[in-house]
Amino acid sequence: MMTSFTTLLSALLVAASSAVAAPASPLELIVFSPTITGPTAGAIWTSGSSQTVTWDTSNIPAEKENSTGLLLLGRLQNNSENLDIAHPLAVDFPIKDGSVNITVPNEPFGMDYIVVLFGDSGNKSPEFTIIGGQ
Ligand SMILES: *[C@@H]1O[C@H](CO)[C@@H](O)[C@H](O)[C@H]1NC(C)=O
Ligand SMILES: *[C@@H]1O[C@H](CO)[C@@H](O)[C@H](O)[C@H]1NC(C)=O
Ligand SMILES: *[C@@H]1O[C@H](CO)[C@@H](O)[C@H](O)[C@H]1NC(C)=O
Repeated sequence: MMTSFTTLLSALLVAASSAVAAPASPLELIVFSPTITGPTAGAIWTSGSSQTVTWDTSNIPAEKENSTGLLLLGRLQNNSENLDIAHPLAVDFPIKDGSVNITVPNEPFGMDYIVVLFGDSGNKSPEFTIIGGQ
């Protein structure tokens, strides 16, 4: 199933807020968004190949040092990120590692692919290309 980043983020925030019903004091959310440093704009990934996605770990708050991440593939089409939530590229990897290795899925040719990394909040890469799929 495809959905937008905004929809997913809203769902995550609803889940987060319902998990802490009626806090005695205002809930302070520490949000961090690791900046993706690879793939860079215009990178070319071949379907089936191994690739490394990298991000900046310098702004991770100490409270979040053990957070795990979720990495999703999307396409910038129709004013949406079209994230493929059903087929995550990687799950449950340590955010503080700063990189994760993935296998590029079999995808149709396109120059509008992105990856979005979720720690507490999503952060998308520039657009890159996938070739060699069907
Ligand atoms: C993160 O994990 C390490 C090792 O288990 C632990 O010492 C540290 O207290 C943890 N940090 C937080 C914020 O939970
Ligand atoms: C964008 O819209 C076009 C036309 O409706 C559709 O063919 C295409 O599949 C859509 N793209 C995505 C990623 O859903
Ligand atoms: C990820 O891929 C790089 C390059 O092939 C390799 O050097 C590294 O060991 C891999 N990391 C893991 C955790 O497999």
